[in-house]
This record gives sequence, structure tokens and C-alpha cells, in this order.
Amino acid sequence: MKITVIGTGYVGLVTGACLADMGNHVVCLDVDERKIRLLNDGGIPIHEPGLDTMVQRNVAAQRLQFTTDIAAAVAHGTMQFIGVGTPPDEDGSADLQHVLAAARSIGRHMTDYKVIVDKSTVPVGTADRVREAVREALAERGIAIDYAVVSNPEFLKEGAAVEDFMKPDRIIIGSDDERATLLMQAVYAPFARNRDKLQLMDTRSAELTKYAANAMLATRISFMNELAHLAEQVGADIEHVRRGIGSDPRIGTHFLYAGTGYGGSCFPKDVKALVRSARDRGVDLGVLAAVERANERQKLVLVDKVRARFGDDLHGRTFAIWGLAFKPNTDDMREAPSRVIIDTLIGLGARIRAYDPVAQAEARRVFGEQPALSLVDSRDAALEQADALLIVTEWREFKSPDFDTIRSMLKQPVIFDGRNLYDPPLVAALGIEYHGIGRSAPVPERA
Ligand SMILES: NC(=O)c1ccc[n+]([C@@H]2O[C@H](COP(=O)([O-])OP(=O)(O)OC[C@H]3O[C@@H](n4cnc5c(N)ncnc54)[C@H](O)[C@@H]3O)[C@@H](O)[C@H]2O)c1
Repeated sequence: MKITVIGTGYVGLVTGACLADMGNHVVCLDVDERKIRLLNDGGIPIHEPGLDTMVQRNVAAQRLQFTTDIAAAVAHGTMQFIGVGTPPDEDGSADLQHVLAAARSIGRHMTDYKVIVDKSTVPVGTADRVREAVREALAERGIAIDYAVVSNPEFLKEGAAVEDFMKPDRIIIGSDDERATLLMQAVYAPFARNRDKLQLMDTRSAELTKYAANAMLATRISFMNELAHLAEQVGADIEHVRRGIGSDPRIGTHFLYAGTGYGGSCFPKDVKALVRSARDRGVDLGVLAAVERANERQKLVLVDKVRARFGDDLHGRTFAIWGLAFKPNTDDMREAPSRVIIDTLIGLGARIRAYDPVAQAEARRVFGEQPALSLVDSRDAALEQADALLIVTEWREFKSPDFDTIRSMLKQPVIFDGRNLYDPPLVAALGIEYHGIGRSAPVPERA
């Protein structure tokens, strides 16, 4: 099948590469010339496991192309996937300007039947607005061409995006058009060979399903983070509580980790957008408003622990930070807790030595040149001259560190473990002061 993907970011590039890998001919369009040049030069703009080889393979097989040429891209595909960004507007609602611009581009350039697929995360009713934007563009041209708009929200997780796209839990197709539904089923049939994963519904339900999924996951995280505060107060360990409740199949083990708060490009903005769009319809999603408040507090939980231990004036102190990306296996730092933590610590006078296995370049872009921040290229280099270590992202290489090195390199052997990676009694037995999330700190046994 001939497919166009509009927007070549995390979602668009993964979608384009995976659809090409199934044998389709895919053209990925973006307005960002630098990104398209990089891709055409054989580079990859994001870190995503398995994506580089998949892109190379399909470019070599001439099934995957990248362009900034809107007319050519629109002419190419019967299926036009829209995967552009939907950042939060000032009031928290989803900013649809890129989605609607993409829709207008299609309307201005299409010459035959198109299925326009909303893959971006968009509020309920957006499919209707996209339909209208295309209709207006066609009307300006004084022509009528048949087209359909379907909703096909994406559920991939950054860090496992290729795997998720190739083996999805479910494929949601919101469509009111029979021909478009058949074409969508054909596109996704190869991804649902072993069991029927396609869920057909109306566009509005599909749009709401995506927000509901992210809101539910964010709720679980904030719930555990609030419970972690209580666990500390009552002398319980949230890790025991997590295992205790997670073994109940009605609750399940996923997304029950207390930590430094959720971040990334999706949960924060999607929770905000859902609360906002509900309010516009006179519905108060009080649970989600609380989820958001709890998360804002949680991003500062490590800083609060640092202040409780070292005081409010951190001049003359240096902190090692392990992990900058909002989660492991990605270089994405959008809304990453590390940003709030680093900015706040520097604001209190501290110096930071930070290390991330892949997000160094992105961190350089995000933070710019700052005298108080050194981005270093190894775990150990971050520890040099540091008063304490803060674990912010649970990268695999942080899970079993050399605790002797940590103890000997830090000026004071103190770990603030924002991801509860370590066993508190074990770390204490090695002579390291340990502060986790939702766990009472044991007294170090070795000086
Ligand atoms: N990142 C994720 O993990 C994820 C997962 C599921 C859903 N989503 C949703 O998918 C959408 C895209 O997210 P992302 O993380 O891929 O965003 P992104 O910012 O990485 O990529 C968006 C791309 O669209 C391009 N673009 C903007 N306007 C354009 C236009 N008119 N024509 C062509 N290209 C245009 C931008 O230049 C950018 O490269 C969002 O709605 C997001 O909520 C994201």
C-alpha cells in the first residue's frame, strides 16, 4: 500500500519505518528541514532501540523516503497518517494548529481519494474538525474529492516504540466510513496475525480511549507517589506495598512504581488536556486534577530530601545526577523530572555533575551552557567531588553499580534513590546513607 506519514517525530518516524518494514511504500513528510536532511543523510534524529537499522533497511529497499515536499507527499499515499505534535496550549488544552495545518495541506494538494488518519493524540471531536479543514481547502479549490477521516491513536511507549508498534496490545480504529475501515484493516492485518487486535469503534470513542489510557496510567503513578509519602510517615516500605497490591490480578503490577513523578511528552500534557476538555463540557474530572497536583509535588521530592539533609543553602555543594531522560532507553527530555530537579538545585546554589547514557546531547540542547552544570560522560565522572548521588532515571547500568566506588568517590556517602533501585539494608550495610522514595532510611552500618 502507498502510505504518507505527516510529521516525522517519535510517532511518525516509528510508524513510517514499521509500516515500510511490512512491505508498504512509505513517504514521511516533515516541515523541519534539518530533520529531513539528517534522515536523508542516513542519520536518526531520536534514540529508539532498533529504529536505526529498520530505517536503514527500508530506505535501502526503497520502501521508505523522507521529504519536505508537501505536494509530492500528499500525492503519494492513499493513506495519510497525521502524526504531528499536539503540545499543550496556554490553558492546558491540546494545541491543534499542527494537526489542522496538516489537514489543510492534504486538502490543498489531494487529487484522488484519501483516508486521513489522526494518529496524533487529539481531543474528542478533532476528527470532525479535520474533516472540516479538508472540506474548506477543497472548497477553496472549487472541487469535490471523496475522502474519509479516521481516528487511530497510537499507544507506543518511547524506549520500546518499535517493539510496541510491531506487536501492539490493541489497535484502535475509530471510523464511520466502511471503505476507510477496510483499508485500515488491510494496513494493520500484518500486525495482528496471531490474534485479533483490531478494535473498531466510532471516532469519538477512539479519541477518548487514548486520553483515558494515559490518564489511568498517570493516576496509578500519582496514587503510588502519594502513598509513598504516607509510607515514610508510618515507617512502611512502599516497595513491599507495591508487591503486595500488584499481585492482585485486579490491580496488576504495571505502573505502580513510586518515583520522581511522571514526565515525558505525553502524560503531563494529556492529563492536562483531558481535564481541560472535560471542564469545557461542564464535567469535573476531580481525580485527574489531583493526579496532576500530586505529580507537580513529586517532581521536587528528591530536592526536598536533599534540603532536609543538606539544608536550604546549597552553595559549595555538588551533586551527582544519574539519569536525565524522562525514562530509560530514550533521549527524550520533554517534561523530564531531571529538569526541575537540576534547575531547583542550581537555584539553591548547588553545582551539578550529570550523566545519562544517551541523553547527553539533548541535555546540552535543553540546558545550554551553564557554569553550575557539568554534563559528563560516565557514571564515575559524575561522582567526582560530589557530596551525594541522586538517581533520577532507572537506566539498566545504574541498577548494579559498584557501591565501593560510590562510597569512596563521594565526599559523603549519601544516595538519594529517586527510583528505588537499591535494597536499603544492603546499601546501609555498605556504609552508605540511603534515601529512597517511600521507604524509611536504615542507619548505615559501616562508616
Ligand atoms: N511520543 C510518544 O511516545 C507518543 C506516543 C503516543 C502518541 N503520541 C502523540 O503523537 C503525536 C506526535 O508526538 P511525537 O512525540 O511524535 O511528536 P514530535 O514532536 O516528536 O514530532 C512531531 C513532528 O511533526 C512535525 N510537524 C509539525 N507540523 C507539521 C506539519 N504541518 N507538517 C509536517 N510535519 C509537521 C514536527 O516538525 C515534528 O518533527 C502527539 O500528539 C503525541 O501526543 C506520542
